[in-house]
Amino acid sequence: MCGIIARAGRGDAVPLVLSGLENLEYRGYDSAGVAVRNGDGIDVYKRSGEVSELSAQIRDGVASGNVGIGHTRWSTHGPPTDANAHPHTDGDGEVAVVHNGIIENHEALRERLADLGCEFTSDTDTEVVPHLFEHYLERSEDAEAAFRRTVRDLEGSYAIAAIVDGEEAVYGARQGSPLVLGVAGSEYFLASDVPAFLEHTDTVVYLEDDDVAVLRPDSVGVTDLDGGDVARDTEHVDWDPEETGKGKYSHYMLKEINVQPTSLANTIEGRIDAEDGEVSLEEFPPGAFEGVSEVQLVACGTSYHAALYGQQLLQSAGINASAYRASEYGTADVPVTERTLVIGVTQSGETADTLGAIRRATDRGARTLAVTNVVGSTAARECDDALFIRAGPEIGVAATKTFTSQAVTLALLARRLAVDVPHGDPRDDFEAVAKSLERLPDALDRMLSASDAREVGRHYLGSDAFFFIGRGRCYPVALEGALKFKEITYEHAEGFASGELKHGPLSLVTPNTPVFAVFGGDQDEKTLKNASEAQTRGADVVAVASQGHPAVDAADAHLTVPDVHPVWAGLLANVQLQLVSYHTANQLDRAIDKPRNLAKSVTVE
Ligand code: F6R
Repeated sequence: MCGIIARAGRGDAVPLVLSGLENLEYRGYDSAGVAVRNGDGIDVYKRSGEVSELSAQIRDGVASGNVGIGHTRWSTHGPPTDANAHPHTDGDGEVAVVHNGIIENHEALRERLADLGCEFTSDTDTEVVPHLFEHYLERSEDAEAAFRRTVRDLEGSYAIAAIVDGEEAVYGARQGSPLVLGVAGSEYFLASDVPAFLEHTDTVVYLEDDDVAVLRPDSVGVTDLDGGDVARDTEHVDWDPEETGKGKYSHYMLKEINVQPTSLANTIEGRIDAEDGEVSLEEFPPGAFEGVSEVQLVACGTSYHAALYGQQLLQSAGINASAYRASEYGTADVPVTERTLVIGVTQSGETADTLGAIRRATDRGARTLAVTNVVGSTAARECDDALFIRAGPEIGVAATKTFTSQAVTLALLARRLAVDVPHGDPRDDFEAVAKSLERLPDALDRMLSASDAREVGRHYLGSDAFFFIGRGRCYPVALEGALKFKEITYEHAEGFASGELKHGPLSLVTPNTPVFAVFGGDQDEKTLKNASEAQTRGADVVAVASQGHPAVDAADAHLTVPDVHPVWAGLLANVQLQLVSYHTANQLDRAIDKPRNLAKSVTVE
C-alpha cells in the first residue's frame, strides 16, 4: 500500500504536499517523493527513507509551484531504492506520475513501450504510466484526452495522480484503489485518504472507479473515461483535524491507546438504551436482518481477532456464525447462500484480502456488510450495507482503538441480529450488559491512568519469548496481545487458546518465557490451571485480571482490569496488553508507529 497526494491552487504546493505525505506515512515509509510544476518544467525530488529525509533534502533545494504531487511507498515491485521511489517520469521528464496499487499488465505495456524506444530506469510497474501518457500526449489534441487514453490501457488496481509540463493541472484516476478529492474553497487536493488534507478541508468527494478528475488552481472537474460529465456527491467528514496529530503524546500508538475512552464513547453514542437494554442502529431498523440464517465474518490481522470476538458473541446469541481469515476464505469452498450475511471487518476498508473475500461472497449471492472505520472506503461502498465503528482516524500502524470499537460494534450487531434472525436467542441479561457498556469508557479511563504495564514490560525485557493465553472471549485477546507484541517489539510472541498450551506449545515454555494469562470469566478456573502448568515449568505468569481474582495471588505479576460485565472484560484486558507492547517497544527503542516491513493497510493479496 502506498499514499498519494496532489494539490492544485494558488501559492506553493510543496509544503502542502510534504505535510500531506507526513499524514499519509502510515500507508508506507520505504521511500517518498514529490514532483512540482515550476514554470520551466517539472522538478522531481525522491529518495528511499522517510518523508522527513525528503523534506530535509527539499529544504536545501529550491522547489516551488502551485501544482504538485507526492507519494509515500510501501514496496511491492522492486526494492525500496531511490530509483524505485515515486514520482516516476517519462524519458524527457515531461510527465510525472504517482501511483498506489498494481498495474497488472505492466509487463506487456513495458514491452510495447520499449519497442517504441522508451527506456526504463526502475523496477516498478508504475513507470509504464508516464511513458504511456507521454506517448499519447504526442498523439492527442489535449493532455486530458491523452490521460484518458492512458488510463484506458491500464489493467489492475490503481489510484494515479499525474502532472504534465506546460499544464497547470493535476490529472487523477482510480480503479479499485481509494482516491478522494478535497475541496478547500478554490484549492483542491487529491489523496489516498482524508487525513492527508484534513487540516485544510473536511469537504470531500469520494471518487468512483473509472472517474477522471482534473484539478486546476481554480476549478475541478470529474468525468468518466469517455469525457462525459459525472456528478458526485460532496460530503463532510466529521473527523477533527486534531485527531490526526500526535498531540502531547510521543507516538500515535500511545495517543490512540489513550483516547479509547473517547473513541469508544463515540462508537456507542446513540446506539444503546441501557434503560430498556435495547440496541438501536440507525442503519438497521427492526427486521433489517430478517431472512439471514447464518453469519460469516471475514477479516485480517487485528480485525480478524475482533471478528473472532464477534463470532463468540454471535454464537452465544444463538446465531450460526464463523470467522474466517480473509486470505483463506477463498481457498476453501465455504458454502454460501442468499441467506448468508458476510461481514467484512476492516478498519481501513481497503485490505485486498478482505475485499477479495467480500467480492467472492457477493458473487455467490450472499448479503454483505462492512464493519469499518472509513466512510467512503471500498468495503463501505462495495458491500450492501455499512456499519461504521466511529473510532476516528487511526494513524499508528498497529491497530489499537479500532480493535476495541470493532469488537463493541460487533457486539451491538449481535444483539440486533439475535432479535431478527430465526433461532436467535437474545440474552436475558442484556440490560446488565448494556449498562456495563455505558460505563465502559469510564472504566477504561481509570484503568489507563493506573496501569502498571510499563513496569511489567520493563521487568520482562530480555526474555526469550512471550506467550499469551486466554479462553473463550479471551482467546482472541491472547492472539491480539501476541500480534501487537511481535509487531512493534520484534520479539517472538505467540498467542494460544489456554487449553491448547499442553498440546504442544508447552515444550517452548522455560523460566525465560513469561506467560500473560487473560482472565475474563470464561471458565477462568481452567485457564488458571493452564497457567500453573506453565509456572510449574519455571515460567512467570502475568495475570491480566480484576483485583481480587483468584489468579492474582497465584500469578507472579498482575495487570489490573476493572470489574465490568464479563462480556467486556477481555476488551479491557486487551488495552493493558496494548500498553505492555507499547512500553516494551519503547524501551527497546523500536519504530513504534512505523514498524519495519509493515504498512497500515495492505492493498495487495
Ligand atoms: C495489526 C494491524 C493489521 C490489520 C490488518 C487488517 O496491528 O493493524 O493486522 O489489522 O492488516 O487491516 P484492516 O482492518 O484495515 O482491514
